[in-house]
Amino acid sequence: MLLVLGRRVSLSFVKRVIPQDPVLLSKPILQNFRTIQFRVIHSSTVFAIATRQNTDTMPERRPFVRLPTDVYPVNYGLCLKPDLIDFTFEGKLEAIVEVNLATNQIVMNCADIDIITASFVPEGGEEINATGFNYQNEDEKVTLSFPSALQKGSGTLKIDFVGELNDKMKGFYRSKYATPAGEIRYAAVTQFEATDARRAFPCWDEPAIKATFDISLIVPKDRVALSNMNVIDRKPHPEDDSLLEVKFATTPIMSTYLVAFVIGEYDFVEGQSSDGVTVRVYTPTGKAEQGKFALEVAVKTLPFYNDYFNVPYPLPKIDLIAIADFAAGAMENWGLVTYRETALLIDPKNSCSSSRQWVALVVGHELAHQWFGNLVTMEWWTHLWLNEGFASWIEYLCVDHCFPDYDIWTQFVSADYTRALDLDALDNSHPIEVNVGHPSEVDEIFDAISYSKGASVIRMLHNYIGDEDFRKGMHSYLLKFQHKNAATEDLWDCLEQASGKPIALVMSSWTKQMGFPIIVVDQEQQGDDRILKISQKKFCASGPHNGEDCPNWMVPISICTGEDPGCTKLKVLLDSPETTITINNVSPDQWVKINPGTVGFYRIQYSSAMLESLLPGIRDLTLLPVDRLGLQNDLFSLSRAGMISTVEVLKLMEAFVNEPNYTVWSDLSCNLGVLSSLLSHTDFHEEIQEFIRDLFTPIGLKLGWECKQGEGHLDALLRGLVLGKLGKAGHKPTLEEARRRFKDHVEGKQILSADLRSPVYLTVLKHGDSATLDTMLKLHKQADMQEEKNRIERVLGAISAPDLIQKVLTFALSEDVRPQDTVSVIGGVAGSSKHGRKAAWKFVKDNWEELHNRYQGGFLISRLIKVKAPGHCIQCISKVSRPLDFFHILLHYSLILKWIK
Ligand code: BES
Ligand code: ZN
Repeated sequence: MLLVLGRRVSLSFVKRVIPQDPVLLSKPILQNFRTIQFRVIHSSTVFAIATRQNTDTMPERRPFVRLPTDVYPVNYGLCLKPDLIDFTFEGKLEAIVEVNLATNQIVMNCADIDIITASFVPEGGEEINATGFNYQNEDEKVTLSFPSALQKGSGTLKIDFVGELNDKMKGFYRSKYATPAGEIRYAAVTQFEATDARRAFPCWDEPAIKATFDISLIVPKDRVALSNMNVIDRKPHPEDDSLLEVKFATTPIMSTYLVAFVIGEYDFVEGQSSDGVTVRVYTPTGKAEQGKFALEVAVKTLPFYNDYFNVPYPLPKIDLIAIADFAAGAMENWGLVTYRETALLIDPKNSCSSSRQWVALVVGHELAHQWFGNLVTMEWWTHLWLNEGFASWIEYLCVDHCFPDYDIWTQFVSADYTRALDLDALDNSHPIEVNVGHPSEVDEIFDAISYSKGASVIRMLHNYIGDEDFRKGMHSYLLKFQHKNAATEDLWDCLEQASGKPIALVMSSWTKQMGFPIIVVDQEQQGDDRILKISQKKFCASGPHNGEDCPNWMVPISICTGEDPGCTKLKVLLDSPETTITINNVSPDQWVKINPGTVGFYRIQYSSAMLESLLPGIRDLTLLPVDRLGLQNDLFSLSRAGMISTVEVLKLMEAFVNEPNYTVWSDLSCNLGVLSSLLSHTDFHEEIQEFIRDLFTPIGLKLGWECKQGEGHLDALLRGLVLGKLGKAGHKPTLEEARRRFKDHVEGKQILSADLRSPVYLTVLKHGDSATLDTMLKLHKQADMQEEKNRIERVLGAISAPDLIQKVLTFALSEDVRPQDTVSVIGGVAGSSKHGRKAAWKFVKDNWEELHNRYQGGFLISRLIKVKAPGHCIQCISKVSRPLDFFHILLHYSLILKWIK
């Protein structure tokens, strides 16, 4: 099943089983599958569009020039007065600027703002009023003209302006919430990354144009007002005693996209990190308790990064705040990190284990940016991948530190690594490093390639360098570029110096060209030595690259043997199309495996004999979980590419019958989900369901419905996964038990534990009728927590009847669904069946204006587009579902627009 929002949240949304016969995979099904191949990719409309785009209908790139540098800001004195009733704001900017080159024009970024007056006061000179404001709306710029030249030197640029507190979740916007008494009110909040600070105040809105900020907010006196820094003054407004003027300390020199302010009603919990930083988690009023988990994570995380980077967090405080209407998952504004409610709030009774894990990862991610991104900032958006890829890697390091029992690195392989491999094998992928210009292009690169491939190649690099030298290099990078900007190559230089290894050379092969290799391996025994023949070729979802100009990668290759599966016996750097490697002292009965730990960013095709020798390691669990997962995932991928038959993969599934590991099951389940979705409208549909039921029954029996003493986080995730899988596949006992428990839940007799809700909801809906849907919608209405609302929204699409599907789609656009969540409801429908996909796509087309208007071309609209992807794509995406993963399907938003018309 699919779901779109929290990447890994979706992994674990299923739960429980009901016992039946022990599992034997029926032979006939294996035979029947012999004829099936996975090569469906070609038939998808989406693939067709993308191909077209890559060739002749490439959308024109909008011309773009960076801001001139003849005048630049040193300090922004900024005062904003939002009106939370009329949804407008007044602003006053007094920026200290440096004129480099005499000029009578100042060009700044500015969008959706009306300038009332502007003037320039040269240091020690007379005020010069601007005589013209020429807005270049397309470029989101304004040119201020002055009657005489502004001379080289310092001066103050004064601008009075007004703007709207918009409802598009970008710039300075309004966010709707209900008070505990049910009254609807609005908060004023910001989301500036990538290029929307210009919607709140005229500014030089480029990451390399850093300045300090002195921010004041004029707010109703009963509201909380927050910004990046601590409050240094709070006084009544001279003209209106219902207002307060709140002044914040001067920020360090920083980029505009990291500025933030929030005005609203919130409670908070507070702690202190061991390195002396005050940490607060702000929650909706009355829900301070729900901030405790994130607070605990943040208080542990700050000293962890402080120690890892060996650079202190430079601000006196950090606030983490849950915002009701929020487009991204979270945003790393320096000192004031904003989150969706579901990425920050945990209710001990009503939050499930996967939500806890998600909150920990998101907190770990955003706090990492406080160093990597905020202190050292990318020079231009081309290097965004480094920001996001790095944070997406180190969030796991952080969670592994805080919660070693989560086995989070194995989950990385399923959530980010295999996902990146899947997407990057498509012809419409793109290199990690892409040149971007116009703001409309920037949103497009917040995608799975930047995040998940970025994180995966950094993990490979970390492994290639070793932790000690990697940390050394990171430290010198942060020290050298702190309060400045850096490019990808600057990090490579520092890591190269620390490690003595050819980092730039190795890494550019991964970041500057799209795709990755498939490593083809064969072996031969010569006495006590094992001789491996290894070659590389670009791997494509449609099969291996054939043709002349096949790209090459610098591939760090590690090898282990059956003697010690956890230990790397040999490391080589493959820098040519093929090579021969000798491993000494390997007896003929030992297996040899490439890529232990599943760290290298490539697929592997073993000779049949090599593969055969590895299979017992799956069955007897001597291979590490991460390697069992990796082998299985490679084989699925090879079969999808038509390189091996599906039946071989299904045979392999039998070896997993004793599998105890949650993440291995989760990845396997996702791959079977892809297969099931492909077969959903063929004669094989029932057979694959039976196959799934057979495979999952023993583990389901073992786990049962009740949580047992001594169980931990991963047991809870596994139970949810297995029960949901069985329920969805129509396993009778599971379905009956789910219905029974659902009834008790609805009647208030026995409330379902949070970890059982998703699998039960999914099961009853999948096999439910209109009464089931109505009950779910009622539960949705009653839910007080956004997590519960989202949980329901994500499974609604499982309903089968066409008229009910239509009802779900209408619900997606209703007032009851927050604007950022509409996408996951429609996505749920699109991923559930062939009919759902068609209906969802028609719905998107029919409601295009409304949807477009809601998101105004932000990244949510792009996410929405992906809902029309064929089921197997959606499945792949959603198994991990970083929210920003649309790029693999569309490439340019403008193309989609054309296509829709
Ligand atoms: N910097 C991003 C937020 C962002 C995303 C801003 C897209 C503008 C456009 C932030 O650090 C981030 O990556 N957030 C993720 C959550 C994260 C844990 C993967 C998100 O919003 O999905
Ligand atoms: Zn990020």
